[in-house]
Amino acid sequence: MILLNPGPVNVSRRVTDAMARGDLCHREPEFSDLLESVRQKLLRAFAPAGDWVAVPITGSGTLALEAAVSSAVSAGRKMLVVQNGVYGARIREMAETHDIDTVVLEWPWTERAEPVRVSEALAADPEIEVVAAVHHETTTGLRNPIEAIGRVVRDAGRVLLVDSISGLAGDPIELDAWGVGICVGVANKCIQGIPGVGFVLARRTEMERMAGLAPRTVYLHLPRHHAAHEKHTVPFTAAVQVFYALDEALDELLEETVAGRVERYARAARQLRTGFERLGLEILLPEERRSNSITTLRLPAGTTYSSLHDALKRDGFVIYEGQGQLGSTAFRVANMGALGSADFDRFLECLERALP
Ligand SMILES: Cc1ncc(COP(=O)(O)O)c(C=O)c1O
Repeated sequence: MILLNPGPVNVSRRVTDAMARGDLCHREPEFSDLLESVRQKLLRAFAPAGDWVAVPITGSGTLALEAAVSSAVSAGRKMLVVQNGVYGARIREMAETHDIDTVVLEWPWTERAEPVRVSEALAADPEIEVVAAVHHETTTGLRNPIEAIGRVVRDAGRVLLVDSISGLAGDPIELDAWGVGICVGVANKCIQGIPGVGFVLARRTEMERMAGLAPRTVYLHLPRHHAAHEKHTVPFTAAVQVFYALDEALDELLEETVAGRVERYARAARQLRTGFERLGLEILLPEERRSNSITTLRLPAGTTYSSLHDALKRDGFVIYEGQGQLGSTAFRVANMGALGSADFDRFLECLERALP
């Protein structure tokens, strides 16, 4: 089955095989070595400059994100949430669930966040400590202007927390240079690992600041995980086999290089979009707002998502439904994972046959 949903993705045979490296107790030195290897490779891939730490945590991306959100804000201070899709709304829900006061700036799902509004909101409210934004809004495939948001957040002396769960290794992001303070990712999207581990990348100074704040939860307390990792262990049982797969997937990524992976995804997206236009399909977002890894298309008249999905699945391809308000009018095609141009050519042929 070729997965054209935005994660979990098709992985290489090499990554699948890594899960069979053998049974291992997470309290043994071999796991300490594996943990250290994953931490170092995450830093080499995504934070080669500056003094950063990487904190892999067992769980899906939501867990790592909630760990970051619930650990990042001091009691009595606020989080500003940049919201132009489902995942921005999810950050707001997390903050509010943990009794963190929020200020929410909203844009329509097809619009990019505007740094000037972030800047104005920060000037108006000194209680805002952290700004949270989604790099790549998987809802639509929209790429937010993180570099420009990072500039205004840095100028205002606040902290930028980025959900790059579907962005890292698919779209460009330079954590140190763009003024990001905390960034969240996951193993099973553009990094091409297996689901079950998320991670947080943080400036060391940010991790030290968070360590001084009162914990809001037990499992999700990010500094607790980091402190254990510094002692070469984990606070709770880790998904050992998923760590094996992530370790291998990071080797593949470092061999391909992050820039090479981003370019491969950009090429795949161009190939698909050229094909979509040839088939007369309408792409939801204008070109300059699109990410490298998801295309949202309007459902053509005379078909439903389920009939298109089922026809393509019979041919071996999984596409993805439109989310929320786009549910009945759009569908998504992702190009994440260990796939090649022949897979996309074959998909376009099958799509042509499946369309009315
Ligand atoms: C931008 C973004 N944030 C958060 C998540 C949640 O990740 P998970 O499903 O791994 O919990 C996703 C998943 O698609 C995502 O795309």
